[in-house]
Amino acid sequence: MEENQGRQGLKSRRKGWFKETVFYQIWIRSFADGNGDGIGDLYGVYDKLEYLHDLGIDGIWFSPIYPSPNADFGYDISDYRNIHPDYGTLEQFLKVLNKAHSLGIRVLMDLVVNHTSDEHMWFQMSRRRIAPYTDYYIWRDEPNNWDSLFEGKAWEYDELRGQYYLHLFSKKQPDLNMDNPKVRQEVREIMRFWLDMGVDGFREDVITFISKREGLPDGLPFVPAANAIMHYKDGPHVHEYLREFRRIAEEYNAVQIGEGPMTTVQSAMQYLTGDTKSMDMMISFDHMLADCIYTEYLHLPFSLVRFKRAVSRWQTTLAGKSWNVLYLENHDHPRIISRYGSEDYWRESGTMLAMCYLFLQGTPFVYQGQEIGMTNIRLDSIADYIDVQSKGNYERLLTFEPEEKRLHRVHVSSRDSARTPVQWTAGKNAGFTTGEPWFVINPNYTHINVAAEQDDPWSILSFYKKCIALRKRSKTLLYGSYREFYPNDPHFYIYERVHDKTRYLIVCSFSEHEQVLTMPEPYCSGKLQLVLANYPGTNGALPTFRPYEARVYRMRKT
Ligand code: GLC
Ligand code: CA
Repeated sequence: MEENQGRQGLKSRRKGWFKETVFYQIWIRSFADGNGDGIGDLYGVYDKLEYLHDLGIDGIWFSPIYPSPNADFGYDISDYRNIHPDYGTLEQFLKVLNKAHSLGIRVLMDLVVNHTSDEHMWFQMSRRRIAPYTDYYIWRDEPNNWDSLFEGKAWEYDELRGQYYLHLFSKKQPDLNMDNPKVRQEVREIMRFWLDMGVDGFREDVITFISKREGLPDGLPFVPAANAIMHYKDGPHVHEYLREFRRIAEEYNAVQIGEGPMTTVQSAMQYLTGDTKSMDMMISFDHMLADCIYTEYLHLPFSLVRFKRAVSRWQTTLAGKSWNVLYLENHDHPRIISRYGSEDYWRESGTMLAMCYLFLQGTPFVYQGQEIGMTNIRLDSIADYIDVQSKGNYERLLTFEPEEKRLHRVHVSSRDSARTPVQWTAGKNAGFTTGEPWFVINPNYTHINVAAEQDDPWSILSFYKKCIALRKRSKTLLYGSYREFYPNDPHFYIYERVHDKTRYLIVCSFSEHEQVLTMPEPYCSGKLQLVLANYPGTNGALPTFRPYEARVYRMRKT
């Protein structure tokens, strides 16, 4: 194996280093194919690191790249200490890690320990009651009434063992028994394995679900999917167990980012502060529910007021106490332009959306393809979709609706829209692969692609670069306070960041029509300087905002 300079590459991981980092999330299967087999891989990643560096990225979060039967595309892990053969080898991973470090880019792995794949050796041993794996999973003679979040009931009968096992997600994702100290020991060792190799931290998958209520009491009747969430979300021992993991991460100054569906800011604070602190950041979900109830499948018209309320709640609650994760897209959500923006005003809304979140307090994450404004796909039938969650929703929610309506729901909600190959060029297969792509490519690649946007100073891609660069050179945008103006305005999202003598005002119009703005105090009288705008030749003094227009102003206290 290549000499391990992973740890030397970026030696000084000082406390709080992640606060000035801009992360890019790679869902590798669709990022870039380096060896022509139609599947994205670590060879492709290696070749694109300069592209990310040029974008201003200095951190990567890899969605799972471990061996996995792909029932949930990597979130069902069958070996925690290796790389999926589709994506490369450990040696290639080290090459990527070392090159990333030499470019000043940190690397995070996805730690998925609420469950494993049913093909993991531990599960295979556990089914056979072979020590020490017998109690690595949650086995019962009789199931309770819990639903799986993905498909059917949360219990599956195993012939070999003669018992049922719990799976909160798909059948192929049995939940680990975290109450077993041996399982927690395994988790700590997995963390060490990657940290010793030189990775800089972890995004921790559904980490708020790892401790189940004792006795596994029944959940609610007649509520599909999340009927028992109160019995496993923020469970009785979750903080105790996470404190054990925290000690490992702290030794390395590694960052820990927690994920927990339906986390409220109050429950997030338990993970972020005080004696129960176990995470540096928690991924919020509230702001992703501005056009739906609970899941995008149950969609509603987008409400800017709902969006702003959610963002501001997290910004103000965490202020001075913790640190936010900022994001608009990831592998679990459809594309943001198709949701909160407009495909008709593709460039305008794509750039505005970038501005609206990149200057908030916290650490931004950009999801692959977001920086070029990729949009949702529309497939002809449910059979063409591949995501287990989309299929599950289609099978069990509002099934009385006509087919057309149900397909529409899948179209606007499917995680598959985030999982089509990244569009690099207007050429064959969007430049993603020289072979047969493993999944459909969005036909709009002919005009939405990296190559077309690279040289256009007003493209979405160029705008992401400008925003990231501006953020990086401003202490105010990094560390300033946050205040929102006109919270009930249905068209404008306006906030300021203030630090020392400098104020920034960020103004974003979410309207398809022209809107006139009355500047809030103290910006109506002071000397304002327009520092960034998403329309060429913007006159910052004009009160009229064009569709999806966005501007950043600066004001210096005198
Ligand atoms: C998280 C992941 C999601 C996955 C689920 C189960 O929510 O982000 O992709 O399906 O956990 O692991
Ligand atoms: Ca490949």
